[in-house]
Amino acid sequence: MSHSPSLPDRPRLELDPEMSETERLEAIRQHYRRILQVNDELEDRLDDAQDRRGELKADVDELKRENEVLKTSSLYIASVEEITGDGVVIKQHGNNQEVLTQASTTLESDLRPGDRVAINDSFAVQQVLDDETDSRAQAMEVTESPDVTYDDIGGIDDQIREVREAVEDPLEDPEQFERVGVEPPSGVLLHGPPGTGKTMLAKAVANESDATFIKMAGSELVRKFIGEGARLVRDLFELAAEREPAVIFIDEIDAVAAKRTDSKTSGDAEVQRTMMQLLSEMDGFDDRGEVRIMAATNRFDMLDEAILRPGRFDRLIEVPEPGPEGRERILEIHTQDMNVAEGTDVGAVARELEGYSGADIASLATEAGMFAIRDGRTEVTQEDFEAAREKLQDAEQTEEQVINYQY
Ligand SMILES: Nc1ncnc2c1ncn2[C@@H]1O[C@H](COP(=O)(O)OP(=O)(O)OP(=O)(O)O)[C@@H](O)[C@H]1O
Ligand SMILES: [Mg+2]
Repeated sequence: MSHSPSLPDRPRLELDPEMSETERLEAIRQHYRRILQVNDELEDRLDDAQDRRGELKADVDELKRENEVLKTSSLYIASVEEITGDGVVIKQHGNNQEVLTQASTTLESDLRPGDRVAINDSFAVQQVLDDETDSRAQAMEVTESPDVTYDDIGGIDDQIREVREAVEDPLEDPEQFERVGVEPPSGVLLHGPPGTGKTMLAKAVANESDATFIKMAGSELVRKFIGEGARLVRDLFELAAEREPAVIFIDEIDAVAAKRTDSKTSGDAEVQRTMMQLLSEMDGFDDRGEVRIMAATNRFDMLDEAILRPGRFDRLIEVPEPGPEGRERILEIHTQDMNVAEGTDVGAVARELEGYSGADIASLATEAGMFAIRDGRTEVTQEDFEAAREKLQDAEQTEEQVINYQY
């Protein structure tokens, strides 16, 4: 493509003295039309030229930038381990070498252990980087210490005990496992119907073992871009290692670990890659320190067996719907801070709640409180619980009707 084709000829007006008045007028009209055409064409050319100029300028800028980068020597990434009187202890990423180095006084006052920094060939700290892991970690929920305790969870005492054995004990007393010579389970999978306390249980165990709770929803791992899910998995484990003791909790794990289906869309391939990354992180987990892995699903039947192999999620804990005693305990828990009128038989209310999950019972209690508030009362009565139950039942029926109507 040539960028400077010859310009259109300049139109000429030729008037013959022999021409009649009308002929001249016609010739002038034609001339005028030709001028307009040429003008349009020149304007198009000018636009093209300006576009081209913009492109070239962008190229030049890009090259200038590359040149700058080439001129400066490369920097390496490291983490700050400790700030001492003698200087800054950093650990290089990649080879994990620890180095005692210096930072300029202005930089040093900003440095905190755990910061990511750029260092030059002689290890001097050049700049503090934003915590990329943490910014990518937006998809994760990190809680230093969640506020759920075992006492907040009703009706699943056996499950609490199992989780404590599998997660809390190895976190609190890893030596005990070494002394006895058993490996604690690699990963704990909670499975069961919705609203039965799986998420609560994971939070509670993190809280009670003073561990950082790092939660990621499986659906967050199913990303649009190739490699993004796998990278998030890597970040998740990296972050946990930085924050140990930590509990990693992958909610809705079925989103990334469902059985292979027949559909071979590229989306599936990406989900597979994410799962592969998860498996490989779990497989290489032994030397990661005090990090425990938990996951939850209410689609246990859908899970790929690969994820349940030894060394992966090898402790399965079923969290069922609460039985009658469990329901009563859960209702007690959720009414414990409520001003319940004397003589209210919470047990009797609970007996009516066949088929209610923990989450249903929690909303029943709230709903009962709302009836009292609407009435301007400060006490919640047996009737309020009754009314709440009817209301929730109606709501459920409507929901069923809507579902039946839709399908
Ligand atoms: N066993 C329980 N004891 C007390 N409260 C419970 C219990 N189970 C559920 N709840 C109440 O229901 C809410 C939701 O529970 P949670 O998020 O733990 O359920 P889940 O099993 O993780 O559900 P899902 O499978 O839908 O994620 C809790 O915040 C709590 O108020
Ligand atoms: Mg949950």
